Amino acid sequence: MRGNGDRGEGGHPGDGWDLSAAHGEGDFSADVSTLGGGAVDAGDGFAAGEGGGSPGRRGNDRGRSQHDHRRENARLNAQEARREALVLSSKPTSAWLALTSRCNLQCKHCPRDPLTAPDDNMTGEHVEALGAVLFPTLEHLALGGNNLSEPLLSPVIDETLEAAVECGVRIAVTTNGTIIKTEHIERLVAAGAEVRLSIEGVGKAYESIRGAKWARIERFMEVFQTARRASPSKGARLMLGFTAFASNLSQLDPVIEFAARYEVDRVHVQHLMPVHSNQRFQLLAYHRLAANEAFDRARRLAAALDVVLELPPLFPLGSMEKAVEGPRPEHRSIQACYYPWSRVNILENGDVVPCCIANTMIMGNLHERSFEEIWNGRPYQRLRATVNSARPIGVCANCSMRSGNENDSDALLNLLESPGVPGLFKQRVKEFLMRHHREDLLKRLIAGRSRMGRLRARVGL
Ligand SMILES: C[S@@+](CC[C@H](N)C(=O)[O-])C[C@H]1O[C@@H](n2cnc3c(N)ncnc32)[C@H](O)[C@@H]1O
Ligand code: SF4
Ligand code: SF4
Repeated sequence: MRGNGDRGEGGHPGDGWDLSAAHGEGDFSADVSTLGGGAVDAGDGFAAGEGGGSPGRRGNDRGRSQHDHRRENARLNAQEARREALVLSSKPTSAWLALTSRCNLQCKHCPRDPLTAPDDNMTGEHVEALGAVLFPTLEHLALGGNNLSEPLLSPVIDETLEAAVECGVRIAVTTNGTIIKTEHIERLVAAGAEVRLSIEGVGKAYESIRGAKWARIERFMEVFQTARRASPSKGARLMLGFTAFASNLSQLDPVIEFAARYEVDRVHVQHLMPVHSNQRFQLLAYHRLAANEAFDRARRLAAALDVVLELPPLFPLGSMEKAVEGPRPEHRSIQACYYPWSRVNILENGDVVPCCIANTMIMGNLHERSFEEIWNGRPYQRLRATVNSARPIGVCANCSMRSGNENDSDALLNLLESPGVPGLFKQRVKEFLMRHHREDLLKRLIAGRSRMGRLRARVGL
């Protein structure tokens, strides 16, 4: 997800909040041995197994050759990622696609500002052209969740679903669920899609956050349930996405009860990323004890009701001990990132970016160049050459996904309280020296810096 109106900047909290990753597309993980290989789940939250009943995957000859083609691309893609090739013969196996920038709601927690939001839409021709290039080899397509919009408002949602299903692509749609067209929902079910419905509470609590009538969500669930019961073999799935913050923590249990009532396949909880300064203290990293207790309670309730619940990790609470003895805390290792090989994020204005975090790192625009030109163009080659090096470029340098836990409120807190690049550099040096027991050198550096400061003050710098 990205903040609107901030396309040109990089690396600040408003420019690339990966809500789709937080929506259980997680395992961005870096273990290249799990990449591709066709039947292997690329770890993006889609159910393992074959195409959820998409027609293109069924036993006819066309379906089989599509399937072989896709497997071959996935195999080659994994190979090319493994050797970190700069120019690829394979195409990405997963894509996010934003079809529109429009939305019908004004949720309190969402950075979308209707006054400044762009008004871009993919047209039928765009989708057709893109589909012809990408869909035959694509394993997963995520619609919505990669920008601040409602995908079911797109004028081309139906033809996009149809084209993707025809090619046997597995689909996920992140939606606010307030646009209820029975035929949309039936089409999603027929496509064996995973529908990711976002709610941050139930009843009045929902209404006060989203400003939409709760009755619409109940209606959405009923229509989905009916459609799914009518076609159980399609394998359609329903997920609830819950963005958690201090004021709605008490809504977690009611949402789990709601999920149990409607046979929801999983409930995924992600942290709020505060948008406005007054939302800052809604971040659960400031409410650790309460968050841990609520998460524990929710886990027990979900187990009792047989609801699959995906929670962020519990917060470390620190210690009141004055002297900390024993081994130093482990530093998190940085994982490699293979998104520049395996995935692509295409925005509604035609911009191609590597992921939802780096949505200001524009690799090219589809209105100016073909996908193939962009996929192997200089910006992509540069990204592939640097992303897993000692000097990643742009947003990749401080990407929170690389710490191995993209839904980590502590990482958000660090970002909020981040001292900026020079401060960050100092902090890294300090951490490095402490880790290597070079407190002596650290003290000399600090003393040297103060001497330098005094000297600069004396000469008036
Ligand atoms: C931006 S919306 C786009 C798709 C659709 N309109 C919806 O609401 O599901 C995708 C997800 O981002 C979540 N979201 C919005 N603002 C957020 C924020 N400030 N921090 C974390 N998640 C947020 C929403 O709750 C939703 O689950
Ligand atoms: S429906 Fe989605 S995109 Fe629209 S304001 Fe709410 S969270 Fe943001
Ligand atoms: S390292 Fe770069 S490409 Fe990979 S997820 Fe992070 S920002 Fe995206």
